[in-house]
Amino acid sequence: MRFLITAGPTHEPIDPVRYLTNRSSGKMGYALAAAAREAGHAVTLISGPTNLPQPAGVNFVPVETAKQMFDAVAGVIQAHDVAVFSAAVADYTPAEVSADKIKKSADQFALALEKTADILGSARVQFGFGGFLVGFAAETRNLIAEAQSKLHRKACDLVVANDVSKPGSGFDSDENEVTLCLPGGRSVPLPKMSKTALAARLVKFIDERIAAQNPR
Ligand code: PMT
Repeated sequence: MRFLITAGPTHEPIDPVRYLTNRSSGKMGYALAAAAREAGHAVTLISGPTNLPQPAGVNFVPVETAKQMFDAVAGVIQAHDVAVFSAAVADYTPAEVSADKIKKSADQFALALEKTADILGSARVQFGFGGFLVGFAAETRNLIAEAQSKLHRKACDLVVANDVSKPGSGFDSDENEVTLCLPGGRSVPLPKMSKTALAARLVKFIDERIAAQNPR
């Protein structure tokens, strides 16, 4: 099958020297790309800026901003059977990018932000994606309720619920602890494990769900 995976943070420029971003390292998404490749799938990895080496054998598409990630996904998603959105996309971007470095002056400085387009939320209706859709939910409270709501609202087949308030798990860690949220209100907690092991487990889980949906 053909897997599309998004990974990493986005950088939202403020001026030529500054940007807004988050703590995503890209490790989870890159591990997913490697695991899908390892399982014999063709992989497109659309990645925000990270310090990680490009995984071997994948179609690698580097992007910087949420808008660029949106456009890159919109351009290729239809050619894929599975889409996994593990990127930590900025929800807001500066309303204006200053052409010059903003100089220090007043004691307080307010930055006007505007909402970015929701890539996962656009997959079904705007992009017309009919394949297996996987979202992530990074939450610090009401983890399962928020993830189930996302699953429903965005018509996902699976949402990987990530409690990012737990130390040693989630953003930038080598390990992760997640709960798989499925249609029908079912949720399956997984033990804490390396992102490499979790990625292999998620790819196997997705393969099995698709096989069960399409019996020979
Ligand atoms: O990169 P690492 O350091 O390894 O960390 C991994 C991780 C914590 C980033 C990853 O496991 C994770 O939880 N990714 C989702 C992070 C996130 O931004 O979650 P969210 O709840 O804000 O977004 C929900 C979903 O919508 C995600 O699938 C996200 O990719 C997607 N999204 C969000 C905003 C937006 N504008 N477009 C989107 O598609």
